[in-house]
Amino acid sequence: RKYVIAVLPGDGIGLEVMPPALRCLEAAAKRFGFKFEFREYPWASCIYYQEHGVMMPSNWKELLKACDAIYFGAVGDPASVPDHISLWGSLLLFRREFDQFINLRPCRLIPGVPSPLANRQNHTIDFVTVRENTEGEYSSIGGRIFEGTSRETVIQNTVFTRQGVDRVLRYAFELARSRPKKKLTSATKSNGISITMPYWDERVEEMAKEYPDVKVEKYHIDILCAHFVQRPHTFDVVVGSNLFGDILSDLGPACTGTIGIAPSANLNPVSSKDDSAKEWMPSLFEPVHGSAPDIAGKGIANPIGMIWAGQMMLEHLGEKDAATAVIKAIESVLARGGTNLLTPDMQGKGTTQSLGVAIEQEIINV
Ligand code: NAI
Ligand code: MG
Repeated sequence: RKYVIAVLPGDGIGLEVMPPALRCLEAAAKRFGFKFEFREYPWASCIYYQEHGVMMPSNWKELLKACDAIYFGAVGDPASVPDHISLWGSLLLFRREFDQFINLRPCRLIPGVPSPLANRQNHTIDFVTVRENTEGEYSSIGGRIFEGTSRETVIQNTVFTRQGVDRVLRYAFELARSRPKKKLTSATKSNGISITMPYWDERVEEMAKEYPDVKVEKYHIDILCAHFVQRPHTFDVVVGSNLFGDILSDLGPACTGTIGIAPSANLNPVSSKDDSAKEWMPSLFEPVHGSAPDIAGKGIANPIGMIWAGQMMLEHLGEKDAATAVIKAIESVLARGGTNLLTPDMQGKGTTQSLGVAIEQEIINV
């Protein structure tokens, strides 16, 4: 078995967390008897933009479609390129063009990671945010009129399509059904956002009829954020629009410790390489965090978000045993912990390098 992976480290700490993560994947492949071919590209980065005036070469799609999956670091260098240009010129384009309509973001309290919440160590926190990933608030529809005058007006539309809403809800309901708690929480704001959000709620209620075994609850996003902080252990599957899902998936990991360990999978669950009738659209795996310019270059970024995203990629590729070994390695290294190993976001003094090597060793040895 061999998998061809497009590797896009991007900018900032993306360039620092990618090498240790690739070594972890190599270690897993070696141990479980399969191979990776990593095709590393310097584009989808602000570094590339500064040289070429665009974020990516024109044949980016062909290059990525030649691969089984995309492994992505982080993009963004706000000091040199506006964030909306770097993001829309790379990651958001991938999500859209490859129709990666599911953004899966697991959140777990892992022993060894200091959590800012008191008494949380007594609870099991283990939930998944399912974020709609292709429409919603992240639309490019809108514009400015009367620019530069006192009547200056800016409009941006939210787009919910029946297909777009239903497919992410369907995925979330199925996921909830497959988990022991069988609980689905829907994020809404139908009191204030009076057209799109009531529609979202309506689709949830409609679909809930098909899943009588799944317990469904909905909360407005503001109070849901409060519940995330006060009782994160009560959630199971949380589904939200593009914006709400984005916010919740930084908040969840922040409650359990650090966004530095949070992974994410951008999935197109209907495209298959074996189905020649349909266009092949690869899925993308990345940490939840961005390029972190404030700590870039210091060698102290937490590599676990990137490594855990690799674990999700292994799962997606069907390498279940390797995926299990990687998550176990992450858990046991964190449990062993120690100030010298944990990175500063986990209150330690460790480095990207040393933490990465510890996990790599654990994958090989355990
Ligand atoms: P960010 O996630 O890059 O950083 C937020 C905070 O968390 C910073 O204080 C950072 O030091 C810390 N942090 C993030 N990852 C960490 C890690 N692995 N280890 C330790 N600390 C970590 O978000 P921010 O600051 O809003 O955005 C910075 C740049 O990243 C911007 O250009 C933004 O557009 C881009 N961005 C890109 C994303 C992506 O490529 N998927 C996602 C989010 C932001
Ligand atoms: Mg985000």
